[in-house]
Amino acid sequence: MTNTKITKEAYDKKSEEYHKKLISSDGSFWNNFLEIPMRKILKEISKNKKILDLGCGSGIRTKKLFSLNPRKIVGLDLSPELIKIAKNNFSEIEFHSGDAKKTGFKNSEFDIINSDLMVHYFKSLNPLFKEVGRILKPKGYFVFSMHHPIYEVTKREKEKNKTKYLLEPYFHNELYKWKMLEGMELISYHHTFEDIFSSLKQNGFVIDELIEPHAINSKKKFDKKHIERATKYPSFLIIKAKKL
Ligand SMILES: C[S@@+](CC[C@H](N)C(=O)[O-])C[C@H]1O[C@@H](n2cnc3c(N)ncnc32)[C@H](O)[C@@H]1O
Repeated sequence: MTNTKITKEAYDKKSEEYHKKLISSDGSFWNNFLEIPMRKILKEISKNKKILDLGCGSGIRTKKLFSLNPRKIVGLDLSPELIKIAKNNFSEIEFHSGDAKKTGFKNSEFDIINSDLMVHYFKSLNPLFKEVGRILKPKGYFVFSMHHPIYEVTKREKEKNKTKYLLEPYFHNELYKWKMLEGMELISYHHTFEDIFSSLKQNGFVIDELIEPHAINSKKKFDKKHIERATKYPSFLIIKAKKL
């Protein structure tokens, strides 16, 4: 079975639970952590633009993008069940189910493509970046977040109530299995910084901004354990890439 099929089935099966987790306060820690710097980037460029939210899940973040006054916003996700939830909750937004590497949108249809935490599901980044480059206007922005290249090659070990972080082999493109929820096994792929950079370059993008979020400044109360980890070790990478 391809990873696209595995991912689709996993999100379809757990769509309701996943949506509830994202809107719960603890479950949304990692999303808040990313959302603050991404929102800052998007706020500066979104007004009156046509935006696609690629891998939009149940549309929670798509709805937040909607508040940045784009001219139009569209969400697309692989999981028809998540798209059903998105359509029920945010009927003012246009949502479609489909594969990000073959979207069916017209050439140069969007000014901005946003994608939160989807890129690491792809072993090869080229087909995805090629499709994004096709449907994005020249000088348009592709703003995405993904698992940080160090994150999945860092092993955590408990030693006398302390967590130690050990670096494992880095130079590869192997899969790793992880659990989003109980009974929801997912497969993602490790990408080095060089791989991300050269795949973007090969598909006509230059990196305009790169952020490694490592601090959270929020009024919401989050689990101390999460905050401690997030302020010391990288979890995510945010890239704002410009199409030449
Ligand atoms: C971790 S979730 C993030 C959802 C949403 N962007 C957010 O931040 O709340 C990853 C999403 O990527 C979607 N996805 C994975 N592979 C995809 C593909 N090939 N095409 C479109 N969506 C995909 C999944 O269905 C899932 O909804």
